[in-house]
Amino acid sequence: MTLDLFDDPIWQMASGERAAIEGLLSAIQPKLAIEVGTAEGACLRRIARHSAEVHSFDLIEPSVPDLPDHVVLHTGDSHTLLPQVLAELASAGRNVDFALVDGDHSADGVRQDVEALLQSPAVSDCVIVTHDTGNEHVRSGLDAVAYGAYPKVAHVDLDFVPGHLGRDRFPGELWYGLGLIVVASERPAYGTTPAVQTDRHHGGELLAIARDVLGGRAPDGGDGRFDARTRRLSDAYKRIDELERALAERGG
Ligand SMILES: C[S@@+](CC[C@H](N)C(=O)[O-])C[C@H]1O[C@@H](n2cnc3c(N)ncnc32)[C@H](O)[C@@H]1O
Repeated sequence: MTLDLFDDPIWQMASGERAAIEGLLSAIQPKLAIEVGTAEGACLRRIARHSAEVHSFDLIEPSVPDLPDHVVLHTGDSHTLLPQVLAELASAGRNVDFALVDGDHSADGVRQDVEALLQSPAVSDCVIVTHDTGNEHVRSGLDAVAYGAYPKVAHVDLDFVPGHLGRDRFPGELWYGLGLIVVASERPAYGTTPAVQTDRHHGGELLAIARDVLGGRAPDGGDGRFDARTRRLSDAYKRIDELERALAERGG
C-alpha cells in the first residue's frame, strides 16, 4: 500500500507531522483556513483538500500549478498582509478554523505571526499549528508569546509532535516539531488550569541539551577531543554502530 501523504517529495515536513496535520484537518474540516509559508504548496494542497476556503501567504510568489479555486495566494510579508486579511475576515464576521504558521522562522517573525492570529477576533475558535518548534529560534519566539493574556487560548503544547536533532541530514541542527495552540472562545476565561502544558520537560530545551552534548561527536567515531561525559556517549555510539553493522550483515 502506498500513501501519497508520505511520498510527497516537496512537502517540507516529517511523516509524523504530515499525519498529525492530516488528522487535524480531517477532524476539523475547516470552512476557512490560513497558511503562512506557502513554499511549493505541498502542505497547502492537503489543507485545500479538507477546507472550503484557504488563504496562503508567502514572501515569494509561489508557482504552484493547478491550485483549486478556493485557494487564495497572498504574496508579500506576512507581518503586513496577515493582519490586513484577518481584519477583513473579522469585519465580515468570519472565523478561521485552522491555521498553519510556517513562514518567517526568526524568533520575532514567528512570534508576530502567532500574535497576529491570537489578537484577531476572526480567530475565536481555531486550531493553530506551528512548524519547526524544535528549532531554537522558532521556539524562543513561540515561548515569548504571552498565551495567558488571551483568555480564549485553551491549550498550548509546543511539543505536540517533537522536533529532531539532525544526524545524517542537517547534522547537529534542530528542526521540525509541531506546536499546537487551541483557541476556544467558549473556554471559561480565568481561574482554570494554565493553558500551556507543563506535564513534560520543554522539548526544545531537551533537544538543545542533546545537541550540545552530542554535537562534538566526530563523524568517524574518533573521540580525541571529548570530555569524560561525551566519551561515554561516544562508547555508546560505537556500540550502536556495531549493532547496526551486525543488523546490516544479517539483512535487517
Ligand atoms: C518552510 S517553508 C514553508 C513550507 C510549507 N508550509 C510546506 O509545508 O510545504 C517557509 C516559507 O515561508 C516563506 N516566508 C519566510 N518569511 C516570510 C514572511 N515574512 N512572510 C511570508 N512568507 C515568508 C518562505 O519564502 C518560504 O517559502
